[in-house]
Amino acid sequence: MRIYPVAVVVLLAASSGARVAADEATMRAAVVSAATIRMRDVARPVAGPGQVLVRMRYASVNPADWKSAGGNPEDATARAPAGIPGVDGSGVIAQVGAGVVGYSIGDPVIVWSPGGGTYAQYLAVPADSIARKPDRLSFAEAAGMAHAGLAAWNMLIDQARVRAGQSVLVLGGAGGVGSAAVQIAKIKGARVVATASARNADYLKSLGADTVLDYTAQHFEDQLRNIDIAINTVDVDNAYRALAVVRRGGYLLSSAGLPTPAQCAARVVSCAGRSRDGTPVRLALEQIADWSQAGRFKVNVDRSFALSEVLQAWQYSQAGHTRGKSVIRIDDGNGASAGPSNGVMTP
Ligand SMILES: NC(=O)c1ccc[n+]([C@@H]2O[C@H](COP(=O)([O-])OP(=O)(O)OC[C@H]3O[C@@H](n4cnc5c(N)ncnc54)[C@H](OP(=O)(O)O)[C@@H]3O)[C@@H](O)[C@H]2O)c1
Repeated sequence: MRIYPVAVVVLLAASSGARVAADEATMRAAVVSAATIRMRDVARPVAGPGQVLVRMRYASVNPADWKSAGGNPEDATARAPAGIPGVDGSGVIAQVGAGVVGYSIGDPVIVWSPGGGTYAQYLAVPADSIARKPDRLSFAEAAGMAHAGLAAWNMLIDQARVRAGQSVLVLGGAGGVGSAAVQIAKIKGARVVATASARNADYLKSLGADTVLDYTAQHFEDQLRNIDIAINTVDVDNAYRALAVVRRGGYLLSSAGLPTPAQCAARVVSCAGRSRDGTPVRLALEQIADWSQAGRFKVNVDRSFALSEVLQAWQYSQAGHTRGKSVIRIDDGNGASAGPSNGVMTP
């Protein structure tokens, strides 16, 4: 798996001492600027028309975060303009903007913020980019639902239009997107084959995978033929190899690189990346939340890091073996823990 180094993020010496807690006008956030990530007190956002202000409990860790910080965003909209990373998370509504109906202060919600900003105590987001947190999930679990879940939804449902009885191959089944894809494919009635290392076989079966192939011991292309839909979350090499196992007229969807259009056309396979078209975000989030509430969609929290440990969280993600999701703890509900008010991240 290709690892994208966060080359531009340098560590400086630890800061000396914390300042007083953020006042009403400010908040703590992890901010990337000038090749460094620091804890900062920054202006607290307010909810504009059509927005809600969310007091964040947990952000989730996505490769998008360190790719954007390293100058390689997943796509143009994934870059954090304000310099605060983080594209999804969970929290509680602290303010409701003009024109927003259906939400009140105090509602627990999940958020998707492709423009960044969830590694902070507060985030203003459009109300159509949130959904109610399922009671059944903790804030930490719910934090990991949106970005990976929406990517899997878009590829499987919006683009490949998965249906009962089809065969779905999920390459990288144990990661954030892979775990979501295995579960969504299963909910839709597909037969699911997933690749992972042997240590994740039981985990993937618990998510509904019918067959798990250990990529360290065998090549999936030696085992499989005539797959209806392949979902690749690993790398471009896996995408090339997947082309050989998808049936004519089938789909290869990838969040991690694709063969050339000519190669896909030669195999009569529809190839595409994650697109921003399709089901409105709010509807997709609400459906995934409903599945979670019904016990059909789970989020495994692998590691939980403090907001002041962003670099450690990113190093763990870069190692490429997260099982499910890792999260950043911003406020655990017990009065903890945004960390020092102004300091450079320490290793
Ligand atoms: N464009 C978008 O909107 C979008 C959205 C989401 C994600 N993405 C991209 O999609 C990719 C996956 O994201 P993610 O969040 O799912 O990553 P992730 O959670 O970090 O993926 C980690 C998983 O990859 C598995 N893995 C590593 N090498 C493997 C291999 N050779 N074969 C099979 N599994 C392997 C690991 O399983 P083992 O521990 O068993 O090795 C681990 O469970 C990233 O490149 C990300 O940037 C794009």
